[in-house]
Amino acid sequence: MTADRIVLRDFRNIESADIALSPGVNVFLGNNAQGKTNLLESLYLFAAGRSHRTSHERDMVRFGQPYFELSLETSAVDVTRIGRSRTGYVQSAVGTNDSGRAEYTQSAAGTSDGGRAGYVQSAAGTNDSGRAEYTQSAAGTNDGAQAEFPRSDLPIRRRELGFKVFAVGTRKRECKKNGVVVPLTELIGAFRAVLFCPEHLSIVKSGPSERRSFLDIALCQLKPVYLKSLSRHNRILKQRNALLKQLADGNGDSELLEVASDQLAREAAHIFTARRNYVRALDIEMKRFFSDLGEVTGESEQPSLVYHSSLGDDCELDESGAYKYYLERLSANTAREEAAGATLYGSHKDDIIIRLDGRDARLYASQGQQRSLALSMKLGEGQISRVETGDEPVYLFDDVLSELDPRRQLFLLSKLRSQVIMTACTPPSEEAKIKANIINVSQGKTY
Ligand SMILES: Nc1ncnc2c1ncn2[C@@H]1O[C@H](COP(=O)(O)OP(=O)(O)O)[C@@H](O)[C@H]1O
Ligand SMILES: [Mg+2]
Repeated sequence: MTADRIVLRDFRNIESADIALSPGVNVFLGNNAQGKTNLLESLYLFAAGRSHRTSHERDMVRFGQPYFELSLETSAVDVTRIGRSRTGYVQSAVGTNDSGRAEYTQSAAGTSDGGRAGYVQSAAGTNDSGRAEYTQSAAGTNDGAQAEFPRSDLPIRRRELGFKVFAVGTRKRECKKNGVVVPLTELIGAFRAVLFCPEHLSIVKSGPSERRSFLDIALCQLKPVYLKSLSRHNRILKQRNALLKQLADGNGDSELLEVASDQLAREAAHIFTARRNYVRALDIEMKRFFSDLGEVTGESEQPSLVYHSSLGDDCELDESGAYKYYLERLSANTAREEAAGATLYGSHKDDIIIRLDGRDARLYASQGQQRSLALSMKLGEGQISRVETGDEPVYLFDDVLSELDPRRQLFLLSKLRSQVIMTACTPPSEEAKIKANIINVSQGKTY
């Protein structure tokens, strides 16, 4: 999918802008504090439904203005018009391992519209080494990498998405899909993006909440029910914590607590299974990228990701089993919870364990290895998004390239055959061989 045009009004320091984006690489270019990240943030809002920099939407309204308004035109492959063969392809790809790429290619070749054929051709003769060969040709083609993916032959669905936030008055937010007002949850998923910013480079070292947030943002875009479940979980958690404090003070309602425990257990079970399954898929995908990257960097360790929760590491339970587990724990531990004034079981406690050659990467991985892990996880996220939806996500890079050494820079760009929108202080280097659509940004103005 691609973002084709974004129109902004009174968003942060951008009074007004109307930007045409190319399907290849786009660079918001400018000095510090000009509005580059602001532009990326506006795009990201459509993907995640929230900013990656603030939890207060009003912060994004230009100082002194009543509201901001964004409109985004997107194009996406219309999977509903490709037919069942593509669905088959998506399913077969999900279950694959190292030889998966070949299967994926084969079944994609069978799609009726033949639209992906150009894309398939370059990979068609390949098997396990296909990824590398394909990448070589993509790397050398600049925007030709896009040409191998003949979007024009695919049934395309165009959408116009709107996002308006009010700084004053009682109305808070208005979302639109093709001119029709819709709830935020319906907007999310229409535009899918993988955001990569410097903080993500430290995902291995950062706290568990950053790693949970990595999963939540990826899952929310793929599964609207996940987003609903997560919002309910967080709301119930707050209420339940307040109830526990009241009970500790001797004026709480224990029947209400039982209701809250049941509701929380339901949502926690849903979130647990979705995240655990996602981490399993991510583990497979990131291993491939990490090993490809190892050919460039000389790193030969085996990475692994495991979802860690109070149920155990990579626990096998299904949703109803997890529900029973959570309900039992919540009911059995209310005294401890009252003393702590907080809920001790639920999705807010979980983490991803990242290992290299079986050792905790937080403690043992070098800075370079940690970056390779982060890079592989992000590329893995994009790959899952593609496999699950049948279309490429858009990649948003905020000052990431400049943080990477040239080998990792080239690797990253060579792996992507989809739209990239990034920020930079200097134009892309010659050796990176990128033909980019440059959008200059200066004092909130674009040209
Ligand atoms: N709500 C707002 N209204 C007006 N200006 C804002 C608002 N929020 C941030 N800014 C301004 O945006 C600028 C930073 O933009 P940013 O996109 O982060 O810069 P960069 O180009 O370095 O990525 C700062 O000058 C900041 O004051
Ligand atoms: Mg910035």
